[in-house]
Amino acid sequence: MIHLRGISKRFEGKRTVTALERLDLDIARGEMVSIVGPSGSGKSTLLNLIGGLDRATEGEIELDGATLSRLSDDELTRVRRDKLGFIFQFFNLLPTLTCVENVALPLHLRGWPRAKIEARTKELLNLVQLGHRLDHQPDELSGGERQRVAIARALSVYPPILLADEPTGNLDTATGVEILKLIHDVHERLGATVLIVTHDANVAESCERTLRIRDGRIVEDIRRESARSSTEEPTRA
Ligand SMILES: Nc1ncnc2c1ncn2[C@@H]1O[C@H](COP(=O)(O)OP(=O)(O)O)[C@@H](O)[C@H]1O
Ligand SMILES: [Mg+2]
Repeated sequence: MIHLRGISKRFEGKRTVTALERLDLDIARGEMVSIVGPSGSGKSTLLNLIGGLDRATEGEIELDGATLSRLSDDELTRVRRDKLGFIFQFFNLLPTLTCVENVALPLHLRGWPRAKIEARTKELLNLVQLGHRLDHQPDELSGGERQRVAIARALSVYPPILLADEPTGNLDTATGVEILKLIHDVHERLGATVLIVTHDANVAESCERTLRIRDGRIVEDIRRESARSSTEEPTRA
């Protein structure tokens, strides 16, 4: 589903920063992978490259059959719109739009008919349990509610790939657990491939696979059988 070959990213400036160095990575369709590592290790850069928000300095990224480096900017925008959903730490909602309008925006950009947009938007806001907040604006919502709107927006086109950059980083623990559950639900119900950058060990360990990044390299790639244990009730034999 996602294949990286020899990916490097350098930021040129007064001082050149090498954010990623010759990374190889394969992620299968339907995997849920957490990405951990110290601040500045290259986690967001990795997510941004996979999400087509930025271009690699070297190497190839293949995303659901498309080789990103071969795409024009317009084609890249289209891939982003059709294949990817993004969830950010600071939600990135448009402050002057209501919940409904924020979630509907990607569908308007795709030229969906009004009735279909309305139906999908309501369905998604119900899915994230915000059916009673349709006409509220972001500043009328709690942090957890804002993040739920952001998740509904990221899911609007049912993207095959969901990228989340510290989605619980700005939330209290209880709300973080709730948002994590929601992302797991979405992963299971929609079968999306999910990449989630996190500082939180519970979030990381709830995923079937964890990548550890240090100084722009993958230093550990862990797979575990009992994923999700930390979001479920403990079970005793
Ligand atoms: N737009 C940018 N311009 C210059 N340097 C950047 C830019 N984005 C990230 N970096 C640098 O790349 C490195 C990795 O950053 P980042 O991927 O944001 O780390 P993380 O998300 O793991 O905290 C850092 O040293 C950071 O300062
Ligand atoms: Mg980051």
